[in-house]
Amino acid sequence: MKINLKKLVAAAAQARLGSVSPYSKFKVGAALLTQSGEIIGGANVESASYGLTCCAERVALFKALTDGRKKFVAVAVVARCEGGPMPCGACRQLLAEYAPKAAVFVADSADLKTVRKFTVKKLLPSAFVLVP
Ligand code: THU
Repeated sequence: MKINLKKLVAAAAQARLGSVSPYSKFKVGAALLTQSGEIIGGANVESASYGLTCCAERVALFKALTDGRKKFVAVAVVARCEGGPMPCGACRQLLAEYAPKAAVFVADSADLKTVRKFTVKKLLPSAFVLVP
C-alpha cells in the first residue's frame, strides 16, 4: 500500500495537540497507519510519578491494538526538536513486537516537510521476541 506521508505526518502533528505533558512540556504525537489505510493517533501522557509516563508511540500503539488493529505499515512521530524525535528504547521494543514491518518517520513539528525514515529493525536490531 502506498503511504501518504504528508497525511500521516500531519496526523501525528494533530495527535501531538492532545499531549498531556505538564512536567516536561515536551509534546509528542504519533500516528500509526494500518494496512487497510486507517490512521490511529496518540500523544504522550505524563504522571507526577514520572516513571509512569507513557510515550506517544505507545499510546497510539495501545489504542490501535486494543481496537483490534494488528497490521501496521508505518508510524510517524512528531515533536518540536531538531530532526524530529527518535523513539525511546521502550517504544522500539513495542514496535518490534507489534509493528515490526512498519516504516518509522520522524519530523520536527516546526518543519513537517523534512522527514527522516527508519526501519524498526534498524532502530532495534536483534529485538527480544517470544511469539514468532
Ligand atoms: N516521549 C515520547 O512521547 N516519545 C518519544 O519518542 C520520546 C519521549 C515523551 C515522554 C515524555 O512525556 C516526554 O517525551 C519527555 O521525555
